[in-house]
Amino acid sequence: MSDLDGKVVLVTGGSRGIGAACVRALAAAGASVVLHYGHNRAAAEAVAAGLPTDACLLVEGDLESASAPAAIWGDAVAWRGHVDVLVNNAGIFEAAGIDADPDAWRRAWQRTLTVNLVAPADLCREALGHFRTRGGGIIVNIASRAAFRGDTPDHMHYAASKGGLVALTRSIARGFAADNVLAYGVAPGFVRTDMAEDFVRVHGEPAVTDDIPLGEMATPDDVANIVAFLASGKARHATGTTIDINGASYVR
Ligand SMILES: NC(=O)c1ccc[n+]([C@@H]2O[C@H](COP(=O)([O-])OP(=O)(O)OC[C@H]3O[C@@H](n4cnc5c(N)ncnc54)[C@H](O)[C@@H]3O)[C@@H](O)[C@H]2O)c1
Repeated sequence: MSDLDGKVVLVTGGSRGIGAACVRALAAAGASVVLHYGHNRAAAEAVAAGLPTDACLLVEGDLESASAPAAIWGDAVAWRGHVDVLVNNAGIFEAAGIDADPDAWRRAWQRTLTVNLVAPADLCREALGHFRTRGGGIIVNIASRAAFRGDTPDHMHYAASKGGLVALTRSIARGFAADNVLAYGVAPGFVRTDMAEDFVRVHGEPAVTDDIPLGEMATPDDVANIVAFLASGKARHATGTTIDINGASYVR
């Protein structure tokens, strides 16, 4: 595949899990990839080491910090002079139920909304301004099945953040189509990553797979292949849609 030759793609949370698989798939399709990571530079370097020389720029940034999205975007654009595709992948999935201490509950809501919704929105804002000067661009936001199905009582804030991300994506698709901006959501169910393993440790694997007609969790590559396809621009008239990757565990 060389759909992405000459394209620059920013992937947030690219040092592990779905993000790392996206970085690899996008680079394999010919893209120059800006790999954003939180704190773990060694993990980011390990992903970059598997890519062609000069195919990848590492950019650090804590998405809980209000100044991080603009700084990350600035570094990404400075590398090759432009960015063509933004993939908002970084996210957190932490538990906070109604029996939690009220302050802890509120902190969990604020942290989750900040990382999963406000930071991606800030990056979309930066991308939209840039795309308008370049005649267009593509945004792929990694949401979740939880946006449509809801989540457990301990993860209502996570579901709310991902529902917000889907609504943001749809608004961008409608509001910026005239600027040649395409925007897509991707909604995984369970994907075998560290994030899902934490849930499996608490609830057990059957609690996850019994609910999936395909009988198994998706792999990070299942998601990355869809992201690389959307980034190619070959799904122009599907803008605004969110693609489900959940083994038919939630068919909308
Ligand atoms: N794994 C699943 O089952 C699943 C299901 C649905 C949706 N998703 C979504 O897919 C995306 C990737 O998930 P994953 O399973 O690869 O998870 P993961 O925990 O393996 O990776 C998450 C990434 O986000 C980054 N990140 C988290 N908080 C950050 C912060 N404050 N600043 C900077 N980076 C930060 C991490 O460093 C990491 O690279 C997330 O948005 C997640 O919500 C995952």
